[in-house]
Amino acid sequence: MPIPVILDCDPGHDDVFAIWLAAANPAIDLRAVTTVGGNGLLEHTTLNARVALTVAGVDGVPVARGAAGPLAGSLHPAEDIHGANALGGPVLPEPTVPLDERDAQTLMRDVIQASEAPVTIVATGPLTNIGLLVRDHPDLIPGIARVIWMGGSTTRGNATPYAEFNALTDPEAIALVLDSRVDFTMVGLNITHQALVTREVRERIGRIGTRTAAFGSELLEFFCSTYEVAQGMPDGPLHDPITVAMLIDPAVATTVRSHLDIEVDGTHTRGATRVDLIDALGAEPNATIAMDLDTDRFWTLVEEAVAALA
Ligand code: RIB
Ligand code: CA
Repeated sequence: MPIPVILDCDPGHDDVFAIWLAAANPAIDLRAVTTVGGNGLLEHTTLNARVALTVAGVDGVPVARGAAGPLAGSLHPAEDIHGANALGGPVLPEPTVPLDERDAQTLMRDVIQASEAPVTIVATGPLTNIGLLVRDHPDLIPGIARVIWMGGSTTRGNATPYAEFNALTDPEAIALVLDSRVDFTMVGLNITHQALVTREVRERIGRIGTRTAAFGSELLEFFCSTYEVAQGMPDGPLHDPITVAMLIDPAVATTVRSHLDIEVDGTHTRGATRVDLIDALGAEPNATIAMDLDTDRFWTLVEEAVAALA
């Protein structure tokens, strides 16, 4: 039975591969894509989501705009990685996938209420939309099977020494989602830095020969070039599709149950995800934490998805 999924994202180069994996793999029933300000301004991340689906030849998946910025503070797009339009590299075609007239909250509510089974929310950007959903529509929480989120880290950050970008952008939203007690999985930098876009990976995608693969190759070349300059990592980590891969094949990543909380006040540590891997606090585990990636299996899933699209 395919898993009903809402994908909330901020495309973003790696978000695009998460969209493609969710759209292509038969284990996933992609019911909706919602967008949030993050890697870029909402106007860019929303256009880019529509472009990603258009390039891949995917239609029939509604796309709706969500929050332009975080619940507190202001948005600081990651232009150093993703470029001014949040999808630097290829020329972007005019999307044929329309923008849904509903906003993200309305679309997510409609999808959850119409679903015959609880819906999995995959989030690959700041958690603003999901935080608002569980805060303003607590009656929908039973209709959410789980939230699996790319963000945070059990080790270091990337936006600051202690905070990963999605977490730093909206720590208050993370607190709302954790307080909702929804089934929550964190896919942090500790595992996503194992998904490195090596030269061999770029050659595998480049050999596929489709329109989607050609577009994806340009995305990866740009992403790796900016990651080398901005983060000293010439093989950029393709963070976001790991969330979808874990739904398709849970064996693709090892996980542990642990107590997770989010720092919202720290002068130097705002946005840090504190994962108590050593159970120092004796607190009840409240999250599933992704730890180690089967990189061969992961890249095979990504390659198969790209090859299955237009
Ligand atoms: O820190 C990496 C995360 O922030 C990824 O989701 C990337 O797309 C950006 O949103
Ligand atoms: Ca993202």
